[in-house]
Amino acid sequence: MKNRQIILSSRPVGVPQPRHFNLIDTDIPALQAGEFLVENIYLSVDPAQRGYVNDENNYAPPVAIGGVMRAVAVGRVVESNSDSYAVGEYLYGWFGWQDYCVATAALVFLRINPGRAPLSTNLGLLGMNGLTAYIALHDIGKPKAGDTVLVTAAAGAVGSIVGQLAKLEGCRTVAVTSSDEKGQHCIDDYGYDAFINYHKPLDEGLRATCPDGVDVFFDNVAGVIGDAVYQHMAWFGRIIQCGTISIPSWVPPPEGPRKEREILTRRLTVSGFVIFDHMDKLDSVVEVLAAMLADGKLHYQEDIGYRLEGAPQALVDVYAGRNTGKKLIQLRDYL
Ligand SMILES: NC(=O)c1ccc[n+]([C@@H]2O[C@H](COP(=O)([O-])OP(=O)(O)OC[C@H]3O[C@@H](n4cnc5c(N)ncnc54)[C@H](OP(=O)(O)O)[C@@H]3O)[C@@H](O)[C@H]2O)c1
Repeated sequence: MKNRQIILSSRPVGVPQPRHFNLIDTDIPALQAGEFLVENIYLSVDPAQRGYVNDENNYAPPVAIGGVMRAVAVGRVVESNSDSYAVGEYLYGWFGWQDYCVATAALVFLRINPGRAPLSTNLGLLGMNGLTAYIALHDIGKPKAGDTVLVTAAAGAVGSIVGQLAKLEGCRTVAVTSSDEKGQHCIDDYGYDAFINYHKPLDEGLRATCPDGVDVFFDNVAGVIGDAVYQHMAWFGRIIQCGTISIPSWVPPPEGPRKEREILTRRLTVSGFVIFDHMDKLDSVVEVLAAMLADGKLHYQEDIGYRLEGAPQALVDVYAGRNTGKKLIQLRDYL
C-alpha cells in the first residue's frame, strides 16, 4: 500500500512557507508487534506548527529535515497488530500530515465515539483547542460573573470557544480581531458583547469597550496588541499568555515597552499556558464540552480544505488570518 506524506524539506525562520515542504510517495512498511495503521480523515492546521519546525526558543524538539510534518489528526484504524486498538476504531493523536500513520499507543490522545458529534470537532472544539480554552480560562483566568474578559484572535479556534465559555460564566466579553466583519461575526455567532478591530487605534478601542478595565486578558497574539492591553488592565487582573502569533520572529525577540510597573501597580497575575501540561484532563474536559455542544450552548465554525498538498499553504493562511474558525484538511469521507 502507498502513502503520501508532507515532509519538512528545509528549516524555515519564522512562519513556514510551502517551499519548506515536499509531498512524497512512500511504501507503508509491514506492521510490527504493537503497531496499527491509522487512515487519516481530518488533519489539523495549527499555529503551533511553526514552533514544531523552528529550531529556536520552543517547548518541543523540532521536526527533523526529511521527517513527516508533526500534526494532530483524526483517523480510523484500518489494520492492527495491537491488542489495544482494533480495526474500525476512531482515534485522535499525533498522526502527522500524511494519508496513513504507522502508529503505536504512544501517539494516541483519545479514542473517539464517532456518533457523539461530527468527527471534525474532535480536532477543534472537542480537541486541543477546546481543552486549551477551557483549562486556561478557568484555571488561570478564574472568571467571575461581571468580569470583563478580553480575547485576542477572538474569531479563531481557541478564541471563539474562550468567548463563549466566559459568557456562560456571566462575564462581559470583548473580541479583538482584524476586521469589523470578523468582529461582527464574534458578536453574532459567539455572543461577544463588543469588538475591537486592531487595525484601528487600540487605546481608543480599549477605552470604549472596557471602561472599567480588563479583568481577564486571554492573549493569543502578544506583540503590540498585547502591550496595549496592560495599561487597561483592572486591579488584580489575570493575563493568560496562550499564544504569540503576531510576533514574526522569536530570535532576536522584538523590542517593546517595559510592563513591570503595570504588573506591580495593578497587582496583575501573568501566566504562560501550554496545553501539553494538561493532556491528562483531555478525557474529562471533552465530556464537559461535548455536553455543552449537545445542549446547544457552544457553537463552532470550521474552515476546511480538501487536499493534503494544500496543508502548508493552509498554515500560511492561518498566520495571515484568512481562516474563519478551525482550519482543517479533510482527506476522505467516513462512516
Ligand atoms: N499555549 C497553548 O497550549 C496553545 C494551544 C492552542 C493554541 N494556542 C495558540 O492560540 C492562538 C490561536 O490558535 P488557534 O489554533 O485558535 O488559531 P486561530 O485563532 O484559528 O487562527 C489564528 C488567528 O490569529 C490571528 N492572527 C494572525 N496573525 C496575527 C497578527 N499578526 N496579529 C494579530 N492576530 C493575528 C488571525 O485572526 P485575525 O484575523 O483576527 O487577525 C488568525 O485567524 C495561537 O497563538 C496558538 O499558537 C496555544
